[in-house]
Amino acid sequence: MNLTFATKAVLEELTRMRLDGIEKVYIQDETLSCLKQLFDTEDQEEVSDEENPEIGLSKKLKSVSTISVEESSSPTKRKELPSNTPEDSCRLPQSPVFQLPEGTKESRWEWLREKVLECETCNAELNPNGKVVFGEGNLNADIFLCGEAPGAEEEIAGSPFVGPAGELLMKILSAMGLQREQVYIGNIVNWRPRHNLAYGNRPPSREEIDFCLPYLKAQLQIIEPKIVVALGKTATDGLMGHDPKRRLSHVRGNWHEVMGYPMMVTYHPSYLLHNPSKNSKRKVWEDFLLIMEKLGMTITEKQRGFFL
Ligand code: URA
Repeated sequence: MNLTFATKAVLEELTRMRLDGIEKVYIQDETLSCLKQLFDTEDQEEVSDEENPEIGLSKKLKSVSTISVEESSSPTKRKELPSNTPEDSCRLPQSPVFQLPEGTKESRWEWLREKVLECETCNAELNPNGKVVFGEGNLNADIFLCGEAPGAEEEIAGSPFVGPAGELLMKILSAMGLQREQVYIGNIVNWRPRHNLAYGNRPPSREEIDFCLPYLKAQLQIIEPKIVVALGKTATDGLMGHDPKRRLSHVRGNWHEVMGYPMMVTYHPSYLLHNPSKNSKRKVWEDFLLIMEKLGMTITEKQRGFFL
C-alpha cells in the first residue's frame, strides 16, 4: 500500500476521532508490529527522509505503544495535523438575518424549512448529488437532538441521522423507550461539508457553523423543547459558543443552558462507533439517564444497569 496515502488516512481518522472527543487511542502490539514492518519495507526501498518525511514517523513509532490524542490537541501541536477545513476561509456570506412569521408551529416550521431548502448558500455548498438537510421530527417534542452536519447517507436522503450514526442514535432512543417520531432531530450545519479527504466526513468549519446557526436557533424557537441534547463537539461549540479551551470530556454529563432551555452535552454517536467500549457506552447512557430523570420518565432497574 502507498505509505503516504496510508499515513494520511490514519492522521485524518485521528483528527476526526479527536474532534469526536476521543482522548486516547490504544494500539495493540500486533498492529504496531505490522506498521513497523510496513515502514521497514519502505525504508529498504531507499527512500530518503527528505523525500518521505513519514520515515521519521517510523522511527518514532518504534518506541510508542499508546498515542494520547488529548496531548496532541493542545493549540500548538494541533497545527501538526493536516488541516481539515477548506483553505479558502471567509467563502460564505454573512449569516442569514430573518424573523419567523407569526402562526402555528406547523406553519412557522414549514416557512423555515422552505427558506432553508431554498437557501442559496446552502445549495451552493452541496456535493454533486447532495441535498440540503433540514431538521425533522415531532414539532411538540420534549427532546431536541442536535447533531453536527449530514453525512453521506443523509445528504442523499435529505434527512438527518439516517446513516450508521443515526441507527445508533435510534438504538439509544429505543433503550429510553422512545421512537424517532417522538423527538426532534436537527443539525448545526445543513449540508455535508465538502472535502478532499480520501474518505469520511469533514467537521464543519467555524464559518459554516456560524452561517447555519440562525437556522438551528429558529428551529429551537419553534419547537420550544424541554431539553436540548448537543451531540458531540460541533453541536456543543455551535450552541455554547466556540471555546478552544473547552474539552468535551469536561462539559459532557452536565446541564448547560441554550436560549433558556436546559442542555445536556454528550458524545456524538459516531464517537461510540469509533470507540465502542463498555465504558464509553456507559458514559453516554448515563447522560441519557439524566435526561430521562429531568423529564420525569420512568426508569426501570434494568435501564439503570445498562452497560455496567
Ligand atoms: N451525523 C450528524 O451529526 N448528523 C447527521 O445528520 C448524521 C450524522
